[in-house]
Amino acid sequence: MSDLLVARGISKSFGGVVALSELDFEVAAGEAVGIVGPNGAGKTTLFNCLLGVIPPDTGTVLFDGERIDRLPVWRRSRLGIGRTFQRVELFHGMTVADHLLVAAQARATGRPHVRDLLRRGGPGEEEMAAVASMLALLGLEDVADRPVDGLSLGHARLVELGRALMAAPRLLMLDEPSSGLDVRETERLAGILDDVRHRQGTAVVLVEHDLELVEEVVDRLCVLDFGKMIAVGSVDDVMANAEVRRAYLGSSA
Ligand SMILES: Nc1ncnc2c1ncn2[C@@H]1O[C@H](COP(=O)(O)OP(=O)(O)O)[C@@H](O)[C@H]1O
Ligand SMILES: [Mg+2]
Repeated sequence: MSDLLVARGISKSFGGVVALSELDFEVAAGEAVGIVGPNGAGKTTLFNCLLGVIPPDTGTVLFDGERIDRLPVWRRSRLGIGRTFQRVELFHGMTVADHLLVAAQARATGRPHVRDLLRRGGPGEEEMAAVASMLALLGLEDVADRPVDGLSLGHARLVELGRALMAAPRLLMLDEPSSGLDVRETERLAGILDDVRHRQGTAVVLVEHDLELVEEVVDRLCVLDFGKMIAVGSVDDVMANAEVRRAYLGSSA
């Protein structure tokens, strides 16, 4: 498999706190990679550096062979890096379906989101069909016309996932997507990720506490501790690693 994302020597400090230290990370095209580690290990900081939300102090990031580490978030997103947030970020007052529709229109026109919604007339048939099939994939048909404000956290997370998927990203980055989801919703999430991977060849980076979900979804697991990758490999190998058991399992057991 060819490398889709390659990060080299990523460091980031906040004042005296070293959140990431000379970190290397890569994702192959179509691969699903899990990142686990104790709270404060640097997982979200790594996401933010890869996405362009915060600049790393050092290091380079290549996407499909091109340097992207100076590009703003929206340019990385346009190149095909989609994401969901650890804390859900949706638009107040907007319905579930409209969240997906805005994403569909942004994809269709290549123009930024909200402006599209305001300027254009009614949505096209193709966009409506894309929204309907995404609602079905997510299992959100029943709440399609409800404003997102009243949704359960589980449903809100699925809306966020759907919005990211509408752009048909080549790489989907998920930060703690199962938090707030019940068992059924978590199973659905695993099914959705499986589906988009196999139908669209989407690569996935999954930061997640729920080890069952991680095991079900990922091809390869990385363990982050104090800003360094302390283990990378198959889920079984990594979980059998003594340093991992001390650092990660020890602290959460
Ligand atoms: N914006 C910030 N300002 C100051 N410290 C931060 C900031 N973001 C993260 N940190 C610190 O960096 C470390 C890594 O945090 P984070 O990346 O959120 O870890 P994780 O997602 O693995 O729980 C922690 O010590 C955290 O307190
Ligand atoms: Mg985090």
